[in-house]
Amino acid sequence: MSGDNIDSQEFQLSDENYELFRAYFGDDDREAIFQHVSEIREKALKVFRFYIVQKFKLLRMKTHPFYPSLLDLNKKRKDLKVLDLGCCFGADLRKLIIDGFPGNNLVGLDISSEFIELGYDLFKDRDGPMKFIVADILSEEWSDKVADLEFDVIYLGSFLHLFTREEQDKILSRVCQLLKPNGVLFGRNLGSTSMDAPSFHSEHLDKDMFLPTADMFTKSLSDLGFGDVDVTAVSKDQLEDFQGGNDAMPGRPFLIYTAVKNADSKN
Ligand SMILES: C[S@@+](CC[C@H](N)C(=O)[O-])C[C@H]1O[C@@H](n2cnc3c(N)ncnc32)[C@H](O)[C@@H]1O
Repeated sequence: MSGDNIDSQEFQLSDENYELFRAYFGDDDREAIFQHVSEIREKALKVFRFYIVQKFKLLRMKTHPFYPSLLDLNKKRKDLKVLDLGCCFGADLRKLIIDGFPGNNLVGLDISSEFIELGYDLFKDRDGPMKFIVADILSEEWSDKVADLEFDVIYLGSFLHLFTREEQDKILSRVCQLLKPNGVLFGRNLGSTSMDAPSFHSEHLDKDMFLPTADMFTKSLSDLGFGDVDVTAVSKDQLEDFQGGNDAMPGRPFLIYTAVKNADSKN
């Protein structure tokens, strides 16, 4: 997740980001959008030097294979509640609004109040209908932070791989508790091939990370009470957001997954 060489690159507004802000603001002034986005990106880099912040590749959820089904579900059920856990700026949630979701059905959650505040600045929607929660999913206060909330769909984007195996088990159990019966979990995180050691120490984050194989991750989800588990290991060179980017963990695939909470799950 380090991105040293990106620091020296001049920031450019990608066509994808232009289209995102053009659609969200309803204003097609490219230079004004560039100035606004550059300014917020500079502020964001002072908060945390995640690779994704440096590159400012904001949208990822839309590339997940479940995304078209999510849009279809929203057309059928106007009460579909979605949580983006580890939402960072919440750009994927704003894209859901562009794609037809009512904002008041969307919740973003992140440990960092700075990211959430920067998201409001970036999208100029502090008074909008979306709910954002600042919380640490591993904390003692978790149940108070999410009291009375439950979701039909939860997204974990580039999130689980930041944690150890024990932390991941706790997170997945808490995620399962937040899902309604038959609710859908979808996401992506770094994993391993059968040739790699699943434990990894990130110097950049100064953290031990657990990167399971697709089989290990499938078993964890099944043991927790998920059915219809579909985990696919995809090499990073096949992922849109790693084209031209650096790769701090060469060879490690992303696990792209969906799973459905069993109606009789004990969680
Ligand atoms: C790598 S970013 C992924 C952002 C986004 N989901 C994406 O796919 O681009 C991980 C996010 O998880 C948040 N995060 C890290 N630890 C957390 C925790 N314990 N509880 C809640 N959020 C956390 C970080 O602040 C960061 O915004």
